[in-house]
Amino acid sequence: MATQSSQWNNNTAFLLAATGSAVGLGNIWGFPYKAAENGGGLFVLLYIFFVITLGFPVFMAEVFIGKKGKSNPVSSVESLAAKSNSSKKWGIVGYAGILASLIIAGYYAVIAGFVIDYGFISAQGVAEGTAKDIWANQQSTFFDMTFWTVLFIVGSCYVVANGIDAGIDKAMRFLLPMLFILVLAMVGYGAYQGDFNAGINYLFSWKADDIETTGQAAAIVQAAIGQAFFSLSIGMGTLMAFGSYMPSSQKVSKASGVVVTADTGVALLAGLAIFPLAFGLGLDPKEDAFGGSALVFETMPEAFAQLGVIGQVVGPLFFFLLAVAAFSSMISILEPSVAFLTQKFSMSRMKATGVILLVCISLSLVSIAGHNVWKDVSVGALDNPFEFMKYFADDFLLLLVGTGMSVFVGWRLQKVIDADTMGISSTTMMNLWVFILKWVSPIFLMTIWTLGNLQVLFEYDLLDKIINLF
Ligand code: PHE
Repeated sequence: MATQSSQWNNNTAFLLAATGSAVGLGNIWGFPYKAAENGGGLFVLLYIFFVITLGFPVFMAEVFIGKKGKSNPVSSVESLAAKSNSSKKWGIVGYAGILASLIIAGYYAVIAGFVIDYGFISAQGVAEGTAKDIWANQQSTFFDMTFWTVLFIVGSCYVVANGIDAGIDKAMRFLLPMLFILVLAMVGYGAYQGDFNAGINYLFSWKADDIETTGQAAAIVQAAIGQAFFSLSIGMGTLMAFGSYMPSSQKVSKASGVVVTADTGVALLAGLAIFPLAFGLGLDPKEDAFGGSALVFETMPEAFAQLGVIGQVVGPLFFFLLAVAAFSSMISILEPSVAFLTQKFSMSRMKATGVILLVCISLSLVSIAGHNVWKDVSVGALDNPFEFMKYFADDFLLLLVGTGMSVFVGWRLQKVIDADTMGISSTTMMNLWVFILKWVSPIFLMTIWTLGNLQVLFEYDLLDKIINLF
């Protein structure tokens, strides 16, 4: 079996790469609009709760598999399965992760393409009242969208093709500090220009009747968990791949703790950049005008338009921030499949990246078409191919892979887990971690997965039926 020979050449590379991976569109594009859709403070509270109780433990499980398996996601799982007398079929967890990563790459690049496009649009200035039309127009142009998307994919593949030190580590050293400075600048601007108190209030306080106004509690819980996992980059092999390059002196628990904290911090900061501005302009998150998933493409440009010339500076800055975050994440989304091809098929890194480049472009075309030519081509219960890819990867595969890794480490690898690799010296903490992986996370994730899929795919509200029995 091909084993991983490469290793990060320093101790901060994993921290930078994994943080660059975790902090992405999920934090700045996804988190604020999901918070707005799901009632603000309650969603934020649940999100933080699930990051700590489920996200962090499963994150560590994924990094652990990589660090111990020392190879690409599939081979790492397979070799650990062999070590623990488990079936080789566990490798399917790795394959499912890679499949998820490719599908995500296919739609993620499209959103990133919009982001770059919007950097230019906002620099030229958007007239008040026109942002909605511009957004509709941008989505209708198949060729423009393809141009920006392909540019983004080629750029990220270029970094990945250069290898983990000369490519990924080098890029992250430059991108990550920039990202933090840009987020802080945006928060500072929001505090100065917007209604900061209203923003803080909205994100950090909630009342019981928020649950009623936002609909079902199950849907909020599902959204919060999905967001926590996606934002932490769990479930598609990225953390296994990055973990496999970890030097032996680095400890899984500490390194994971740093990344999880940084990722959650940036999500909250993104909220603090966007909500004060939105409130300052009198927008109400409960109203449709807030934009849903189009928040950053419809509402924010409108907000920048109202700022006049200043908007032509702050707007591009905001989209530049999004582009940087998306770029470092995209690099990490590509790594698992590139590592897999190089090791399983003994391909050169260059060739493997070339193959993945073509796969990503093909998938992205489907996802682009979902915005225009195939806009009304529904796939099952999902509106169009773009929505389908997003759902299938984020809500369907991701939680399955998360559960698979949790069960694999918790039930099959008990003899392989060692305190030294983990960096956990207290037996109580170790037992707690294994207990969560064995019981809490699989039961919880599978319940949410089942309820959510029944609801979305079959419009069957099982939870509601159960509640009505009493
Ligand atoms: N965590 C990234 C974000 O928040 C997305 C991502 C998912 C990256 C999975 C890598 C793997 O945007």
